[in-house]
Amino acid sequence: MADLRFEDPYEFEKHVARQCEDLGYEVIMPPTNQPGYDIEIIKGKERIAVQVKCYKTRCPISALNKFLDFLELPVASGFTSGWLIVQNGFGKPSLTHVETERPSNLKLGTSTGRAIKWNYDPNNKEPQDLEPEEPTPKEQESDSRVKYFGVFTCKGGVGKTTVAAHLAGAFALMGYDVILLDLDPDKNLRKLFLENPASDDEDEPASLYVHPHKRDTMGTTITVLNADQWNERAYPEVKVVICDCSPVLSENPMHLVKKFDYCVLPTTLNPLGIAKGGDVITRTFSHIRKRNKQAEMFAVVNGYNPAQSYERQNNTLLSMLEKTVNAYSKSDPKCKLINPSYAKIRQSKLLQYWGMHIIDRSPPALAFREIAGRNAPRTDFLQLAEFLQDHTAITSINEK
Ligand SMILES: Nc1ncnc2c1ncn2[C@@H]1O[C@H](COP(=O)(O)OP(=O)(O)OP(=O)(O)O)[C@@H](O)[C@H]1O
Ligand SMILES: [Mg+2]
Repeated sequence: MADLRFEDPYEFEKHVARQCEDLGYEVIMPPTNQPGYDIEIIKGKERIAVQVKCYKTRCPISALNKFLDFLELPVASGFTSGWLIVQNGFGKPSLTHVETERPSNLKLGTSTGRAIKWNYDPNNKEPQDLEPEEPTPKEQESDSRVKYFGVFTCKGGVGKTTVAAHLAGAFALMGYDVILLDLDPDKNLRKLFLENPASDDEDEPASLYVHPHKRDTMGTTITVLNADQWNERAYPEVKVVICDCSPVLSENPMHLVKKFDYCVLPTTLNPLGIAKGGDVITRTFSHIRKRNKQAEMFAVVNGYNPAQSYERQNNTLLSMLEKTVNAYSKSDPKCKLINPSYAKIRQSKLLQYWGMHIIDRSPPALAFREIAGRNAPRTDFLQLAEFLQDHTAITSINEK
């Protein structure tokens, strides 16, 4: 039977309910507009909250986390687990997110005409048995050629090196080998990734092997190179190149700045900078644009403090920054501020102390170490990678 396609979320929900019945579950439809889930299903001791999403695109990490948060609320304590069922599957960032966090109470599935294909099942010890995703044409296109990401803000200390390294980490977790180009004459990246931190040999390799999180799959490598060491033909398997830039644009090799497909501008929500009119961001946009006509440029908030008590300050600063960027993007629509509800980098101790390995002279590692399965930087950087890969899909889902 050919795959069915649903336009109407209610029809899709009814279809999923029938599929749950076919799996032997008793189906209870809660009142419409029940927050958190759409269908309740029961079999023996199992009582499952099923959330159904009729997105026309891949399910984003934000939807997945929202459902996970619901499952942790006291109102959800009666459920033994939750299923999130979608119609267009899950992309690499969201699958990487669950495969690294491994929530034990969540199952992810894609409902097709015939049955539910499982994409993540915490009880399945053989992940290779799960159905792999068919790449969408957009995903095929994005994997077919090298993509250049510049991380640049014409201000020091805003997190360029931290963002470049961990964005590389997110792509590496998603299965890409990554080249990190150290364009800053300070060569911080190289120091951070030296395989033997005690060595002062100029030829000492600087790289990090990122272990696979699925059985029977290969890990990936993040390799730090200087601009003059990079040559696309020497690394045919590499599709992601991330450049950590010097805050002084003229210090960065122009032939590489010209290649950026995306430019990521880390920025903090600091009152002084924003009161001046957020001009660091707009100056950065215009500096890059003078040299590069095609790059899509995204300012991303780094060091975000999500505590409720800072909500008022965050919203005030954010709306001022948004106003400045929106005014600028009237003349250059490829320049945007990423709303933190789509992607942001939270302030974290893990990122603050990342780099202690240089002091301790221990081997390099990313700030992706786990705290009870969760890791804020890892989630944030996977969400940033997801946004960069397909921001039109993310914003279209969230604007509904
Ligand atoms: N989200 C975050 N949470 C906590 N600390 C952070 C965060 N982002 C960056 N930092 C810390 O801020 C400091 C400056 O970061 P980083 O070196 O990445 O900035 P930079 O823009 O590359 O600076 P430079 O212009 O000197 O190259 C680092 O010590 C880093 O650990
Ligand atoms: Mg730096």
